Amino acid sequence: MIDLRSDTFTLPSKEMMETIMTAELGDDVWEEDPTVKKLEALAAEKLGKEAGLLVSSGTQGNLVAEMTHLNRGDGVVLETESHINLYEVGGLSQIAGAYPFLIKGQNGMMNPQEAEAIFTRAYNVHYVEPKLLCIENTHNRGGGKVIPQENIDTLAKIAHDNGASVHMDGARVFNAAVASGTPASRIVREADSVQICLSKGLGCPIGSVIVGTEDFIHQSRKNRKVVGGGMRQAGIIAAPGIFALNNMIERLAEDHVHAKIIEKALLEIPNLKVKDVDSNIVIADLTGTKWTTEGVIEAFKKKGILVLKIPGIQPMIRLVTYFGITREDTEKVVEVIPEIFN
Ligand SMILES: Cc1ncc(COP(=O)(O)O)c(C=O)c1O
Repeated sequence: MIDLRSDTFTLPSKEMMETIMTAELGDDVWEEDPTVKKLEALAAEKLGKEAGLLVSSGTQGNLVAEMTHLNRGDGVVLETESHINLYEVGGLSQIAGAYPFLIKGQNGMMNPQEAEAIFTRAYNVHYVEPKLLCIENTHNRGGGKVIPQENIDTLAKIAHDNGASVHMDGARVFNAAVASGTPASRIVREADSVQICLSKGLGCPIGSVIVGTEDFIHQSRKNRKVVGGGMRQAGIIAAPGIFALNNMIERLAEDHVHAKIIEKALLEIPNLKVKDVDSNIVIADLTGTKWTTEGVIEAFKKKGILVLKIPGIQPMIRLVTYFGITREDTEKVVEVIPEIFN
């Protein structure tokens, strides 16, 4: 099967697996795992921040960051279709105790004026006060959209000018860096904290890292413990992460080329709308066509290809490229597209 449902289906290479066998280990709750420390320092360096913290997943990383930034009853400004809002079981509210102010963006890109209106409301005893802004880059449901730098910087300035912090859900921030040619450290410069996933485009089996100031990470270490994220010989997770940060970033360009090839084939189908492909995610909207998502998914499956139904009002499918999806796989997908949409 050619599995295009998500880049989380990536499998570690033999070379990556071998790093586990030779990793130097210790008890990371005691901060004595040298491999974890090395990964955390490397991630912080790549993102231009003071310190890092290994967490078990992107969801845990975002949650821990929210817990550190926020007090119970604080408000958070975030995009309606963001992963934090839709796919993290409401941890923002049920665990971090925060209230979401939602902004419907354009493929994930929020309008700064709308953010400003929320952040600059005059004090009123009835109101929740926004203390955090979250930006997702690249934006998953936005079709892997690379959020323009100017938009990020403008939004961050509004938050900071109004006493709020900025968190970037950078699950795929290295895709954004490779696609835009902007160093990841520049992309996240105005963010106080960032969550990066090792387990997606970077090809690792497990793990995320959050980065920020020394103080932020110190507090986050406690919050990670609260949610059961204190792991012991976690160097077995960190070792592939180090390998990924050193060897798997530049190759993301290949995934982006594959996604573009698939986009081009889909655009040739009359009436099919495809979100502009910036990185490794292709989203096609079947609205107004004769096809149903279930029918299309089944037709792909019969050809040995798995694609994902995107839940929502519009009938949409998602195809994601990653390490393990080869040029030959991509060509096979392109070959069957006209047969499926005929
Ligand atoms: C943008 C974004 N943020 C966070 C996550 C959560 O990561 P995890 O699945 O490791 O919890 C995902 C997962 O797909 C994601 O796409």
